[in-house]
Amino acid sequence: MSGFFIILAVLVICVLAAVALMGAIRRRDVDSAVGTLARETRQRDKAARRNEDVGIEAPSGAEVERSAALERVGGGSVARVDDVAAPAVFVPPDPETFGTTRRQFLNRGVIAVFGLGITAFGVAIVGFLWPSSSGGFGSKIRLGSVNDLKSEIEKGNGFLYKPEGRMWLTNYPSTALPKAEQVYSAPVLNSLKAGVAVMYQKCPHLGCRVPDCKSSQWFECPCHGSQYNQAGEKKGGPAPRGMDRFATEIDGGVLVVNTGQVIQGPPIGTNTTGQEAEGPNCIGAASGGHSG
Ligand code: FES
Repeated sequence: MSGFFIILAVLVICVLAAVALMGAIRRRDVDSAVGTLARETRQRDKAARRNEDVGIEAPSGAEVERSAALERVGGGSVARVDDVAAPAVFVPPDPETFGTTRRQFLNRGVIAVFGLGITAFGVAIVGFLWPSSSGGFGSKIRLGSVNDLKSEIEKGNGFLYKPEGRMWLTNYPSTALPKAEQVYSAPVLNSLKAGVAVMYQKCPHLGCRVPDCKSSQWFECPCHGSQYNQAGEKKGGPAPRGMDRFATEIDGGVLVVNTGQVIQGPPIGTNTTGQEAEGPNCIGAASGGHSG
């Protein structure tokens, strides 16, 4: 659920960044397109405003023509045109105002690269956080038929490692089920009832990968000496609990493991199978005098 909110937050940030960029580009374009008025135009506008302020109204073109016609026929007077501003001299517009200047081009290029960078970053984050459905670690993995897995465990001398799920599989005796039902939750029991124990490879002490020990038939962590029986229940060392598990289900005889759902290992003292070391330990006594 928290992953969903992170994805949502990243998307919102990307959208806001894109909107801010578009706004900046638009503002620049508008500022450039408006440009500046020629000096003659500004002076003419100022003179017109001054005339309006003092109540002088410039004669229209029709009035000037009518006055000239009256004078030609000997009557009337010519309208005074002294107060009319001289026609403005045409000043060609600055081509840079309407075209794209080098500075504008560089600014837009920088903004575009920046925008692309933010977008790529957002896409990468979302891709990283998006739940995988391809069968890799973090998703549900169909490991195969329970019977096949059991034979593979036998061939592996009691242990089967599945790297795609970062997990260990061992056979679980049906005689231990009554005790297991007192300790484990339903998602763990699903595979135990089918005769297979599924453990996360990560040591619950400080996270080392826990290997199997063929001679003792236990798991023994090389980092600080934690030891677990074949069912992943703690036998010695500094680990705070047994090996963690994944939620499991049996679908038409196929073992499906949800590696996105890690379940904490059983508490210290759990011993559902009663399995003792079947030979010499690989690690020796737990370091630092820890036991339990
Ligand atoms: S990490 Fe395994 S015992 Fe410390």
